Amino acid sequence: MERVVSGIRPTGFLHLGNYFGALRNFIKMQEENECFFFIADYHSLTTHPTPKDLQSNVRNILIEYIAAGLDPEKATIYVQSDVPQVCELSLLLSMNVYIGELQRVASFKEKVRRQPDNVNAGLLTYPVLMAADILLHRADKVPVGKDQEQHLEMTRDFAQRFNRIYKNEYFKLPMAYNFGGELVKIPGLDGSTKMSKSDNENSCIYLSDAPEVIRKKVMKAVSDSGPTEPGQPKTQAVENLFQLMKAVSAPDTLQYFEEQYQNCAIRYGDMKKQLAADMIAFVQPVYERILELREQDDYIRKVAREGAERARESAAKTVREVREIIGIKSF
Ligand code: TYM
Repeated sequence: MERVVSGIRPTGFLHLGNYFGALRNFIKMQEENECFFFIADYHSLTTHPTPKDLQSNVRNILIEYIAAGLDPEKATIYVQSDVPQVCELSLLLSMNVYIGELQRVASFKEKVRRQPDNVNAGLLTYPVLMAADILLHRADKVPVGKDQEQHLEMTRDFAQRFNRIYKNEYFKLPMAYNFGGELVKIPGLDGSTKMSKSDNENSCIYLSDAPEVIRKKVMKAVSDSGPTEPGQPKTQAVENLFQLMKAVSAPDTLQYFEEQYQNCAIRYGDMKKQLAADMIAFVQPVYERILELREQDDYIRKVAREGAERARESAAKTVREVREIIGIKSF
């Protein structure tokens, strides 16, 4: 059985971008693979959350993982900081990672631009910790969105480097789990090319959004004044509406609005109404399950406890073997 590892930072609630990037198809994925899904709480510390926010965000993601369909009986669900072996692996890997290559990472450069007052060392070494997350379970496949492609490439570089230095094939080179297609980037409702919590709350549809909240957000989505001649290219905002529709609506619905656009007969109000209805239908079962799970504290705790135990077992084995390969021996 192949091993799958994926993580999500607890920075709020899961949105449709997270869902289509990292969780799409995971009902099937957990049947066919040995899956480890974790909540990357160490990673989220780069933005300095308050202790209270951190705890509630971790709990939210735990609940939302299960509500979205991850089955704790089949997949190992855990909180990253419950498996501190990842810190040791990260430290060991970091000895063969160069500052220059970390400084060239696109997400690091973006953070430097966006938050020049908080360029902490955790941001710089972020890809090393992420590689450790993945290599800790010697993963074959990593379901992620397009934005994580470079991090995954670095994970393969670090793994390959380790294998070369110690002349073995210990680490596999993990590939993105793309579900047989391209890696996706779900756009925002505000015209931005990536649905992301940090930009604008209204650009995100959360799995925990009530139907009326989804309807309001979609009806307010940015569009334009409409095409004036056939074949006119779409503006980014309108392209986003079509991409979102492609994600949640039936193919013939998408085709209908595509034809309307091409004939310059499109009414964005109608399109948004349809998009809202399809998003609600898509999100509602997960939303209802979230509400139920929020009341089941003992169960949530049990999932985290048992997941941590299983993950620690796998992690301890890897760290023990890596120490041995490196030559760390206890006397
Ligand atoms: P994070 O927390 O930013 O996002 C979690 C997952 O959601 C995907 N994603 C998207 N996919 C498509 N369209 C979008 N608009 C969109 N927004 C987010 C991300 O690609 C990701 O798969 N560094 C990671 C967390 C992490 C991790 C790992 C992932 C830490 N260790 C090990 C995989 C394996 C991150 O910040 O994702």
